[in-house]
Amino acid sequence: MSMLETRIGDLALKNPVIAAPAEHMITDGGVRAAIEAGAGAVVVKSTNESQAAKAQLRAAEYVALDTLWQPVAWGADADPATMILSRSGLHPLGFEEWLAQCVQQDRIARNHDCLLVPSLILADPDHAVDMALAVQSAGLRVLEFNIGTPYGREAAKGAVSTETAADRVGALTRAMTERLDIPVWVKLTGQSSDVPDLAVSAADAGAQASIVAGRLLGMLPDLDTMEPMLGTSGGFGGFWNLPLTCHWLALCRAALGPGKALIGINGITGGHDVARALLAGASATGLASAVMLRGFDVISESVAVLDDYCRSKGVSVADLVGRAADARKTFADMPELTNHWQNFVPPQSE
Ligand SMILES: Cc1cc2nc3c(=O)[nH]c(=O)nc-3n(C[C@H](O)[C@H](O)[C@H](O)COP(=O)(O)O)c2cc1C
Repeated sequence: MSMLETRIGDLALKNPVIAAPAEHMITDGGVRAAIEAGAGAVVVKSTNESQAAKAQLRAAEYVALDTLWQPVAWGADADPATMILSRSGLHPLGFEEWLAQCVQQDRIARNHDCLLVPSLILADPDHAVDMALAVQSAGLRVLEFNIGTPYGREAAKGAVSTETAADRVGALTRAMTERLDIPVWVKLTGQSSDVPDLAVSAADAGAQASIVAGRLLGMLPDLDTMEPMLGTSGGFGGFWNLPLTCHWLALCRAALGPGKALIGINGITGGHDVARALLAGASATGLASAVMLRGFDVISESVAVLDDYCRSKGVSVADLVGRAADARKTFADMPELTNHWQNFVPPQSE
């Protein structure tokens, strides 16, 4: 077994770097580039039956921001700390064409020992199950079921869902797993006070992995126009999300136990972040914004940096999973330190 190999339930990935879905995963060219860059898995841009969700892509807008909230150029030269505010929609093709494209892309993926992951976003639950059955019949090997988009409250009614109640997560997951034989990965919202509760419900209902967790919503007032940037609230993400993701991963691992797979997503910008998410309990990690912003080299570089890190530490990816999470203590476990706090205040406050 290779040092980078990892397992997500029944499936093995050659490495834990997953090209996560966003607009660069709409076209054949983008999906092929992610596969050829060496991703362990590639998740294609999501679809559902809602015309409003497709219309939302036609009205989508994006802005890359530096740490002073100034718009910066999109592209390979962007700093890894660049953040993205966006308002996205779903795959422009109809379901049948989307599925046919996934089948073609799966052939390419198989030739590269890569897992092609079709992704459905919940609108109507019955439609979602019918589409999932069609995905399975087409020979695809896994399904990502995203029930935690950031936009549930902002989008047109019924276009997408942000499921925040554990019983709903359980029921929606069960509706899939009791009809499908292929593994189901459930993408959960981060807009919850209790992501581990959602992950436990998904696992109890038969999900082989929880993807932890979807982006948050943000609104950034523009000082010139005095209006919201992009005109609306939007999905907001960036490097700063990494510790929040790692925290959720650690809590999910504690709630689920080490036997259940987690996929870390949100704020992972490169190979060292991948290692951090693995240490927090993920068995694999998704990168979306970093690749959409800076290009597909981010994937090959992430795999290379992770490989270097594992070699330098003399460990495999499997050895990393959950190590920091399992070493995590409570505040009450920590020793008292004499006047330590005084080193962290301005001189007048000492
Ligand atoms: C512009 C944009 C479009 C996205 N489209 C999808 C999508 O179609 N399906 C999906 O499951 N997630 C989608 N996402 C969410 C990403 O896959 C990912 O969960 C999120 O951006 C956090 O990871 P990141 O910090 O690596 O970007 C999208 C994200 C962005 C920024």
